[in-house]
Parts: sequence; structure tokens; C-alpha cells
Amino acid sequence: MKDKTYKLAVVGATGLVGQTALKVLEEKKLPISEYVFFASSKSKGKTIQFMGKDYVVRELTENSFDEGFDFAIFSAGGETSKKYSPIAASKGCIVVDNSSAFRMDKDVPLVVPEVNASEISKNHGIIANPNCSTIQAVVPLKVLDDKYKIKRIVYSTYQAVSGAGWKGITDLNNTMKGLAPSKFPYPIFNNCLPQIDVFLDNGYTKEEEKMINETRKILGNEDLNITATTVRVPVMNCHSESINIEFENSFELDEVFDLLKNSPGIIVMDDIKNSVYPLATIASGHNEVYVGRIRRDFSIKNGLNLWVVADNVRKGAATNAIQIVEELIKLG
Ligand SMILES: NC(=O)c1ccc[n+]([C@@H]2O[C@H](COP(=O)([O-])OP(=O)(O)OC[C@H]3O[C@@H](n4cnc5c(N)ncnc54)[C@H](OP(=O)(O)O)[C@@H]3O)[C@@H](O)[C@H]2O)c1
Repeated sequence: MKDKTYKLAVVGATGLVGQTALKVLEEKKLPISEYVFFASSKSKGKTIQFMGKDYVVRELTENSFDEGFDFAIFSAGGETSKKYSPIAASKGCIVVDNSSAFRMDKDVPLVVPEVNASEISKNHGIIANPNCSTIQAVVPLKVLDDKYKIKRIVYSTYQAVSGAGWKGITDLNNTMKGLAPSKFPYPIFNNCLPQIDVFLDNGYTKEEEKMINETRKILGNEDLNITATTVRVPVMNCHSESINIEFENSFELDEVFDLLKNSPGIIVMDDIKNSVYPLATIASGHNEVYVGRIRRDFSIKNGLNLWVVADNVRKGAATNAIQIVEELIKLG
């Protein structure tokens, strides 16, 4: 009997996440026999090279999913997802959505395969990919939560401009030359901006709220104490995060190292005598989450500090979405 193959749509194929998804798909060689690439009317007719062939980009319309797809990876912003994902799902296509449109919906699984792959089978046609800064955090946090039970988390992030797509990259390049910013509120060159997304009434930014709510949903603990400060920094690619954790239970540092070293998707890089720790330039282009500076927080009982770095466009978006598709394929 011939092995089953699948048909996949990539929506937002011309974007930063979409283009990276194509690279990851080329690397992973999934049993997908047919690919169709969609973007806005602006990109209609453009040619994309993929797996040695030329593909013509199609404009996304309400009829795009009539021809039948098994899966679609959406990376085209929240408004596009809100409008077109339900249409795709209604036609039998399972959508993996990179936007924030459905992440907090009760009926939509929010999935990081290393953490909660079992949620995938509960989908009703849409599966949400978490925010990039959340994905890389929960990979090590889940391992530690299972063993020591997390009581409180303090996030401080140092997020790359690629997290804001092509426009974010253009802003860093332009402001480096002294030109005015068009994406961020201030020049990102030579600045750290303590604002990612809009401010909410409670003084937090939407990015901070996303990290807090999504972490609670993924770790399955609605009452978990979490605070976050998210900062845009003049780094081209890869988010870095300082994560301070307070556990219910005591831990041995050696055991923490072993747990993290033996967990899928994590690379421990921690040799302070030789100044070895995760860096954006090391993680860029890789699919794993890098963890280092693993040390006790002596100011509290059962406290731990981590430095966590990952490629936000890969593990924070494209790779995670494709891992979800891999899991869907395993489910048959
Ligand atoms: N960058 C990251 O690290 C990251 C991480 C996690 C999640 N995400 C999410 O992923 C999504 C894409 O982000 P990005 O960074 O790749 O942005 P981007 O570089 O600006 O790309 C946006 C993509 O969306 C397409 N698009 C826009 N409006 C559309 C429409 N009406 N119909 C069809 N396609 C449309 C664009 O097509 P055209 O080229 O034709 O305009 C382009 O392909 C966003 O929802 C973002 O929040 C991004």
C-alpha cells in the first residue's frame, strides 16, 4: 500500500515566518505531496522557489480552501486569521495559527509539542501556536514544573526586532543609518524599548499579558503567579529571556542540570569558567531552546534563575507550527 501524503497551505508565505516555514519544511521532509502558497493581493503572481521548484503565490480569498487541504499554517496576522481560519476549518482543513487571534479561546488548543502535544487531538479545526516569547520559556519551565511545582515566575525579556516581521528588521537597519523609525515608537538602534505591542489599562503591555496568560494556559495552572517585563532590543534575531522561578519544592542544582539536559528540544549551554552561555548569534538558525546561567536565587527559598535564548522565527513560530503538523500526521 502507498504511504499517505498530505496537502498543505502556507498562508503568509512571503512573510518572515512564512519564508522560514518554507526553509524548515525543506529541512524536515514531511510526507506532504502538495504545497500551495498564499499571501495578500500585493504578492499575487510572485514566484517562490521551494524544494527546487518554482511556485506562484496566490492571493488568499474566501474560496482558497474550496479545493481541499489537510493542513494550513497561517502566519499572516490576527485579522487575516480571524477571517480565513474558520473558513479553512469549515472545509476540513486543520489550521495551525501563528497569530494571537485564537490563543486564549477555550476550544482552541495552545500547543508547544515538547510540553503539551496531547492537546493536539482535542482540536476543532484550529490549533494555536503560542507567542514566540512564551514558546521558548515554557519548554524548560514545563520540565521543572513537573518535578518541583512552580509557585511564581518573573519574566524579563530581551526581544529581537525580527519578532516584528520584515518591518522590524527594516526599522533596525534604517535607524542604524539615522533614518526615522516606521515600526517601533522610537529608534530601536542604540535603545532598549520597554514596550512591545500596545499598553493596557493595568499598565502592562499586551505582549506581557500574552506571556502571562499563555504560560498559565499551557502549564494548565490558571492561578500561577507570573509577572513580566518585555523589552525590544537592537538584536536582529533571537529572543533572550531572564526567567526567575520560585518552586513549591526544594531542588538540587545538579538535578536541574540533568533534567534540562535530558529533555527534548533543549540545549544546555552553561560553562561559566569559560564564559559559555546561550547567545542570540548561537541560537539563530536553530530549532532548539538554549538554556544557561542556571543558578540559585539565594534571595528566596527554592528560587532558580535561567537565561533562555531561542530563534523566535523558528522555534517561536515556524518550527513550532511545523512540529504541530508533524504530530497531526502521526495521528493520521
Ligand atoms: N516574527 C516572529 O518572530 C513571529 C513569532 C510568532 C508569531 N508571529 C506571527 O506570525 C504572523 C506573521 O508574522 P511575520 O513576522 O512573518 O510578519 P511579516 O513579515 O510582516 O509577514 C506578514 C505576512 O502576512 C501576509 N498577509 C498580510 N495581510 C494578508 C492578507 N490580507 N491575506 C493574506 N496574507 C496576508 C503578508 O503577505 P504580503 O507579503 O503579500 O503582504 C506576509 O506574507 C503574525 O501574526 C505574527 O504575530 C511572528
